[in-house]
Amino acid sequence: GKYRVVSTKSMPGTRWINLLIEQDCRVEICTQKKTILSVEDIIALIGDKCDGVIGQLTEDWGETLFAALSRAGGKAFSNMAVGYNNVDVNAANKHGVAVGNTPGVLTETTAELAASLSLAAARRIVEADQFMRAGLYDGWLPHLFVGNLLKGQTVGVIGAGRIGSAYARMMTTSYGEFLKANGEQPVTWKRAASMDEVLREADVISLHPILDKTTYHLINKESLATMKKEAILVNCSRGPVVDEVALVEHLKQNPMFRVGLDVFEDEPYMKPGLADMKNAVVVPHIASASKWTREGMATLAALNVLGKIKGYPVWGDPNRVAPFLNENAPPPA
Ligand code: GLV
Ligand code: GLV
Repeated sequence: GKYRVVSTKSMPGTRWINLLIEQDCRVEICTQKKTILSVEDIIALIGDKCDGVIGQLTEDWGETLFAALSRAGGKAFSNMAVGYNNVDVNAANKHGVAVGNTPGVLTETTAELAASLSLAAARRIVEADQFMRAGLYDGWLPHLFVGNLLKGQTVGVIGAGRIGSAYARMMTTSYGEFLKANGEQPVTWKRAASMDEVLREADVISLHPILDKTTYHLINKESLATMKKEAILVNCSRGPVVDEVALVEHLKQNPMFRVGLDVFEDEPYMKPGLADMKNAVVVPHIASASKWTREGMATLAALNVLGKIKGYPVWGDPNRVAPFLNENAPPPA
């Protein structure tokens, strides 16, 4: 291979590797056992010559790494994720490195996890499962694990992009009506006038914004207090969108309030007390974890890097390649 492409993790499927190999690339996959690589680990991986890197959302792609990649002759970086809050795109611009992400292929898979968490929280499935396994079930009872009926309830989406809209589609088709206007025909969809309106009126709220300065702790003590006492809150976006300490306190004070979380403020940790809350369903950042999606993310990440190394279009339909996030950036200084 003429080009050296590094992947900081082993990724599902073989298609992404074959795509790179067929196009003159030598692929190196990091074999380190530790889950989260440090900046130093990645500098060592980049080495003296590296044309492109496929990295992960657990890595801090800032000034130091883009400088190292640029010194090694690298022109392309792709996150294997749609979110890129771990990537300093300005630093990449400065060093002339194109940045890609992997939108699209994870939309439905992520929305399905948000819907699953909504249902799991509403019907207390995890709590009930733990009860069964603990051998506590001693017969049917009218009061046993009574939860919320979603049919006809109001679903609120904060961050109605690709994923949030797919979630709303799933939930409203199956269960909800999105607010009624003047007691007339049920309105399936409504653009709320404000976030407060969503917080006040929705029975189930799912968070799908990107994480940046404007969405950090978007859900805090005040916004939680605005929500219905028996509301369900789902987060499959990024942990810091929710003030997790405030959330734990709210869960303690409001036993009927339930939450389904895929992401956490300080991954892989949970804030103290969260693990003890029966009204919380927690899963380890698996929203995009279907086989089809993860192979698709790996393929898109490889195409992103290849696209920059070889020039568009390299393979198949160029519209399937995610546009670079910093495509219109000025040339590096
Ligand atoms: C996963 O969290 C992603 O952003 O793809
Ligand atoms: C419950 O199992 C019922 O039959 O109502």
